Amino acid sequence: MMERLDKFLAAQGKGTRKEVGRLIRSGAVAVDGVPVRDPAAKVDPSCQTVAVGGSPILWQEHLYIMMNKPAGVLSATEDRRQKTVLDLLPEDLRRRGLFPAGRLDKDTTGLLLITDDGDLAHRMLSPKKHVYKLYQARLDAPVTPEDVRAFEEGVRWGEEVYAPARLWAGEGDPFVAFAQVHEGRFHQVKRMFQARGKTVLSLKRLKIGGLSLDSTLQEGECRLLAPEEVCQILR
Ligand code: URA
Repeated sequence: MMERLDKFLAAQGKGTRKEVGRLIRSGAVAVDGVPVRDPAAKVDPSCQTVAVGGSPILWQEHLYIMMNKPAGVLSATEDRRQKTVLDLLPEDLRRRGLFPAGRLDKDTTGLLLITDDGDLAHRMLSPKKHVYKLYQARLDAPVTPEDVRAFEEGVRWGEEVYAPARLWAGEGDPFVAFAQVHEGRFHQVKRMFQARGKTVLSLKRLKIGGLSLDSTLQEGECRLLAPEEVCQILR
């Protein structure tokens, strides 16, 4: 969210509006490494680094955690009987209000965003925003050109029509499919393949918008996102 630089610094405890105004005009404040001398300049602290006297301000209104979700855990905040993705968070990342933004099925693995930023989750999940999610599926039959065309046109499942999606086969292995969809409907990818007479044997999410799963994260592991990675989600 864009806000005035002086207001941001005052809210971060760097002085009164007048004091931070003086500080900014003196040239001591830099945004992404560039000195900014205008107290009314707009900054987005969620994806820009503001530094005073060379020291970056560690600003975090919200937490954004990337998890490589393992199979067998629920994308939910709590469950009386079954383990949820929040149970997998290390102690230092636990915080009130965290939730998985966009669910994966219990048996689906891969990129899951856990945050306490309801606004970002809303923008990421709204079908109108067209934030694409990329999935890798292992199928019981090879991807055909007819499947690709059907995905492009919008797959039908009973009464339902899914929005057009991109589909391509893995290089050298047509049983591996890559599907890019922007809706997030219940069992969507599995149903789209089912509508084509195919069964998804395993499913992994690789990407949300411009954000890719960190390939160094083992299943069940997570890490905080850097500010610029948060911005990549909606890109
Ligand atoms: N589509 C599915 O069918 N399952 C998921 O977990 C995600 C997308």
